[in-house]
Amino acid sequence: MKEVTIRPLKTTDKKGLFSILIQNEWPFHAGSKITAERFEKQFDGDYYTRQGVCTFIIEKAEKLIGFVRLFDLGEDFESDETPLFDIRIQEQDRKQGLGSTALKLVLDYVFTSYPNKNRIEATTRLDNSGMRKVLQKCNFVKEAHYRNAWNCPDGKKTDAIGYGILRADWERDEITSLNWDS
Ligand SMILES: CC(C)(COP(=O)(O)OP(=O)(O)OC[C@H]1O[C@@H](n2cnc3c(N)ncnc32)[C@H](O)[C@@H]1OP(=O)(O)O)[C@@H](O)C(=O)NCCC(=O)NCCS
Repeated sequence: MKEVTIRPLKTTDKKGLFSILIQNEWPFHAGSKITAERFEKQFDGDYYTRQGVCTFIIEKAEKLIGFVRLFDLGEDFESDETPLFDIRIQEQDRKQGLGSTALKLVLDYVFTSYPNKNRIEATTRLDNSGMRKVLQKCNFVKEAHYRNAWNCPDGKKTDAIGYGILRADWERDEITSLNWDS
């Protein structure tokens, strides 16, 4: 296991989280770089933590290197709603297996803490090779291909790919194959 841990976001993470967001490029996320005002509003409001939403800080050797924001978690731990998430690792720490390790820890958290969750979903851009590889490494299966569904920051449209992981696959650490022609 890589030296990565996740922990719930704390109010004292405000500065560190803003640094991560402002000092790195996020080409696969909509809109231009976040402003201090907008971040402040989100952080002091309920964007990162509220009913159905929780955020984990990703740390390497106890240093903040990224975060995962889970949403659509439902009303409480008994919810069977299907969650989605946004994961981000700062540029200097990418391509070292840390994103995959962090996501596996997040899957462990969700399936362990929410006994009624049967699946977790993710949608990413066709050309987000890093994220797609991470999802594959974490036993997600491609379940959908949405043509021209993603509005890129340059005004163009590209395809979006939908993935899902089943609790049973997480438990067995394997992938159930999918029959597209059924
Ligand atoms: C997507 C992201 C979280 C991946 O994190 P990461 O720490 O780089 O992921 P990993 O190192 O675990 O990558 C897993 C595999 O994908 C490969 N990979 C990572 N980024 C890649 C890229 N841009 N192109 C091709 N392969 C890539 C890694 O080399 C690794 O390959 P391996 O298993 O053969 O060694 C990170 O790149 C990131 O934060 N990107 C910007 C935000 C983003 O797009 N988030 C997803 C929103 S849907």
